[in-house]
Amino acid sequence: PASYPFHGANQSGILTPGPAQKQAFACHVAMDVTAANKAQLVELMKTLTDRARFLTAGGTPPDLGVSQPPSDSDVLGPVVPADGLTVTLGLGASLFDDRFGLGAHKPAKLTPMTIFKNDSPEAAWMHGDLMVQLCAHNPDTVHHALRDIAKHTRGAMQMRWRMDGFAAPPRPSGTGRNLLGFKDGTANPTGSTAQDLVWVDDSAEPSWTRGGTYQVVRLIRMLVEFWDRVSINEQEGMFGRRRDSGAPLDGNNEFDTPDYKADPQGNVIPLDSHIRLANPRTHATDNQRLVRRSYNFDTGIDANGNMEVGHTFVCYQQDIQRQFETVQKRLVDEPLIDYVQPFGGGYFFVPPGVKDGSDYLASGLM
Ligand code: HEM
Repeated sequence: PASYPFHGANQSGILTPGPAQKQAFACHVAMDVTAANKAQLVELMKTLTDRARFLTAGGTPPDLGVSQPPSDSDVLGPVVPADGLTVTLGLGASLFDDRFGLGAHKPAKLTPMTIFKNDSPEAAWMHGDLMVQLCAHNPDTVHHALRDIAKHTRGAMQMRWRMDGFAAPPRPSGTGRNLLGFKDGTANPTGSTAQDLVWVDDSAEPSWTRGGTYQVVRLIRMLVEFWDRVSINEQEGMFGRRRDSGAPLDGNNEFDTPDYKADPQGNVIPLDSHIRLANPRTHATDNQRLVRRSYNFDTGIDANGNMEVGHTFVCYQQDIQRQFETVQKRLVDEPLIDYVQPFGGGYFFVPPGVKDGSDYLASGLM
């Protein structure tokens, strides 16, 4: 779509309709809130809402005359296009510390991100009071949105870490590929199954959380030069899928359903393959499914001259422990771990959508 609605029961940028499930470009920015008190935090939420409302709809920025800095950077020209922009706001556990008196209203399942076995945590790339996810059809639209938001929120929040991302179009068809060459997103829940797994509606949660969702962002380096020296058989065994078509190793087409009952020893789809560990497809593990919405990143070269690339793994769910953490614990020693290296990210709670022109992000919390 050319634009996504900003107002609604849920925030946009999570279950985006269409075969690609997401826009082609993204930026994930963790923020430290510098607002001094609750009143300033409310102002920040209102400003963020106003900017997101304008940027996602597009339009002509106001003309402030020649004696003032212009209201817009004009990076996208004199009329700002919507260009499929979504602005999705998440709240980190640290926002609920003593500063703003919000502790009693904290989402029940929100904690700082867990450090798992095989993680290589780098403090500069972790956590944050807020997560701003920007997605759009073009990278300059993402850039423009971040620049606009940063300009209008100076004094109330500051960028902490930022990862830009890009997604692949279907090559040659179906779901886009990640930087290990495999189609990524194939088995994502869709339709009402996805709705039921993602949106919070729980009497054990504070009532303002209804229609929100928990967001996990994990920055995962991929050792692609090392990966490119692995045989195709071994690569496919690690995922449990064909690299060319994306089909499960016991199937012919990308969207075929793997039949684990027919292969209890894992002779066709190894028991420790990524897809089999991530989703054993049993009745008991159905409510552990989650919706992934990840992007590729490529930030150049590291200090040793290796390509510095990877995966901004992003997923949405009702309950981080029941969904993401359960799946992550099963994956912890998977064979793929030799080729990937989680080093940052965070857990966030994405408040429900902004209802109308007088509502603002996280209003139910304030
Ligand atoms: C499936 C790649 C990390 C959860 C897949 C697939 C690929 C893939 C290629 C198969 C196609 C598909 O259904 O999308 C990767 C890579 C990762 C990574 C390259 C890290 C660099 C993770 C993490 C989790 C996760 C951290 C969650 C803890 C899943 C799930 C599926 C999946 C739930 C679907 C399994 C199914 O329903 O059959 N991943 N993944 N992945 N991945 Fe990952």
